[in-house]
Amino acid sequence: MASLVTFNEILPQARKDGRAVGAFNVANLETVLSVFRAAEHEKSPIIIQVYQRLFNDERAELIAAMTARLVARSDIPVALHLDHGTSVEQIRKAIDIGYTSVMIDGSQLSFADNIALTSEAVKVAHQAGVTIEAEIGHVPFGDGEIELSTAAEAVEFVEKTGVDALAISIGTAHGFYKKEPVLDIERAAEIGRRVAIPLVLHGGTGVPENQLKKAIGCGVAKINIATELQNMFLRGVAQELDKNGDKFKPLDLYFKPVEEKIIEFVSGKIRAFSEGGC
Ligand code: 13P
Repeated sequence: MASLVTFNEILPQARKDGRAVGAFNVANLETVLSVFRAAEHEKSPIIIQVYQRLFNDERAELIAAMTARLVARSDIPVALHLDHGTSVEQIRKAIDIGYTSVMIDGSQLSFADNIALTSEAVKVAHQAGVTIEAEIGHVPFGDGEIELSTAAEAVEFVEKTGVDALAISIGTAHGFYKKEPVLDIERAAEIGRRVAIPLVLHGGTGVPENQLKKAIGCGVAKINIATELQNMFLRGVAQELDKNGDKFKPLDLYFKPVEEKIIEFVSGKIRAFSEGGC
C-alpha cells in the first residue's frame, strides 16, 4: 500500500531534472479528488496543500484522511502540505494529523526573527521525519507590498535554518493580478546558482507560462496555485446553477462537470511545469 511522501522524495529530483511539481490548494472533497485525478492522469508527482486557516477546525484532518485513502490505492507520489503555517504549534498539529510536509511563514518578521522561528520549526519537523518550507522576502496577499528576496539572504537563511525548500520573492503576489507580473529572472538565477535546495514560487495564478518556465530553469521546483483553481471551481458551480434554473439537482451532479474542468486545468499545469528553460 502506497503512502504519502515528503518533499525530499519529489522536489530535489525535480530541480535536478529542470522541472517543477505543481502544488494546488484544496479546500473540499471535490478539489482534492480533482487534483489527485489530474496527477494520476498525467502520472506525475503532486503536492496537495491546505491553507493554514483550515487547521482551525476538522477540515485539514478530514482532507488528510481522504488524501491518504486515495494515495493508498495509487502509485503516484503525493505530498500533503500545510501552506503558510503560522506557528510551531500549528506545525505540530499538522504532523499529528498526518501531513508529510509543512511551511512555516515568518516572512513578515525581521530576517533574524524569521531565522529563529524557522529554525525551531525545522527541529520539530525533522524530528518527525517531515519536510519543511520557509519564505524569505515577502510574497504579499493582494495589493500588499512585494519584498524581493536576495541571494545573500537566501544563502544565510538556508545555512542557518536547514530548511528543505525555500520560497523566494521574485515579483509574484497571491491572488489575481491587476497588471501582468514581470518576474525578476536575474534574481532567481543568482539565488539558484548559490542555493542548491529546491526553490518555491508562491502566487502562481496569472503568471504567464513562459515566465514560469524561466523560473523553473533557475531552480524553482514547486509552483503554488490557489486562486485560479478555487475561482474556477466557484464559477463552474455558478454556471451549472444558471444552466439548471430552479429545478432541483443533487450536489454531486452539479459538481461533476466542474470537477472535469479542474482536472483539465491541473493536468495542463502539470504538463506546463514539466520542463523549464532559463
Ligand atoms: P495564488 O493564489 O496566487 O495562486 O497563490 C497560491 C499560493 O502561493 C499559495 O500559497
